[in-house]
Amino acid sequence: MKIEERMGTLRADFESHFGMKPVAAAYAPGRVEVLGNHTDYNEGLVLSAAINYGTCILAAPVQGSECRLYDGKFKESACFPTDVRGPSPKPAWANYLKGVYALLRDRAGVAVPAVNVWIEGDVPLGAGLSSSAALEMAATLALGSVLKVQLELRDIARLGQKAEHEYAGVRCGLLDQITSLFGQDSALVETDFRTLAVTTVPLDPDLEFLIANTAVKHNLVDSAYNERRAKCEEAARFFAGVLPHPVRALRDVSPAEWQTFSGQMDPVSARRSAHVVGEIDRVQRGAGLLKRGKWREFGALMFESHESSRTQFENSCPELDHLVTTAQAIPEVLGARLSGGGFGGSAVVLVPCSAAEAVTEKLVASYRQAFGHPCDVLCMRASAGARLL
Ligand code: GLA
Repeated sequence: MKIEERMGTLRADFESHFGMKPVAAAYAPGRVEVLGNHTDYNEGLVLSAAINYGTCILAAPVQGSECRLYDGKFKESACFPTDVRGPSPKPAWANYLKGVYALLRDRAGVAVPAVNVWIEGDVPLGAGLSSSAALEMAATLALGSVLKVQLELRDIARLGQKAEHEYAGVRCGLLDQITSLFGQDSALVETDFRTLAVTTVPLDPDLEFLIANTAVKHNLVDSAYNERRAKCEEAARFFAGVLPHPVRALRDVSPAEWQTFSGQMDPVSARRSAHVVGEIDRVQRGAGLLKRGKWREFGALMFESHESSRTQFENSCPELDHLVTTAQAIPEVLGARLSGGGFGGSAVVLVPCSAAEAVTEKLVASYRQAFGHPCDVLCMRASAGARLL
């Protein structure tokens, strides 16, 4: 059901739980990364889409100094004081709300009320589809409206990112937030993370993206992510020292420059930066191909991207590799790769609509044979971005 149609029920749930009516509601979708892996915080380019799964937040101001949260899907509650200044170990999901509330409060510059907040989402958790960004973006829109803090879209994205850095400990880029905000029906979002310029690329109606969820979430994913980011920054400093032009981020390094100087780097930084420099180049070429309708060639870049993740960035895992290898052996499949941070989560698979069902069956069967249980495969619909309801 469309989110707008569920609002009546959600408003009634809010009212019966908190004994008052909500004054603001917002919805934000999760996202899938189609091409451009770990390029966002390197000021590079990404092609992504907002997906047809997301999070709804309803909120109302309330007297007192305690904010109360309720998650309607998991039937869990949490609370925090209005002067909250940092995360707490449990429950982890409440930290995103704490972060958003605290950052909006500090922005407001005047005393703001406590809030009652209802959360209801259907982004598969641990699937690498950014349930966290969906939560942050819906919360920033809804709470921004209750606390009367007006922000333009890119500042909303930055606020969500800051909440994630400071309250979840992940030094993410802006990909998830920007995609959740700027998503469009039946289109990919193409973002330049140096300028935050966003354009859209229409999808071919005869093709679709499947999302195959391994449901694997390796321990220490967050620290591995932060470690990859630190390595990229270290590599950018190396190139700044050897290249004749300014290097602010790996975006400023071309594949040819990487080739010339990588022999002088430590091998790990060389591999990590090879991935990022290669990915930025692939997105550039990929976006050009899409403008000419060359989806098969685009799919080949998706396979290359995965191979680079597997061997250079080392952010894949056996389950994702299995899905991509299986997909690659099916003639109808145009492309497949891991999507998002990596180390688990989902693979995104580009297929003709006419072959979607058969490909899904093959992926599930082969995954079951290899790992003893099936994987979930969703049909992704590129969808509209976050909005107040
Ligand atoms: C996660 C992060 C994003 C981005 C991707 C990898 O989703 O939150 O900022 O870095 O990984 O491209």
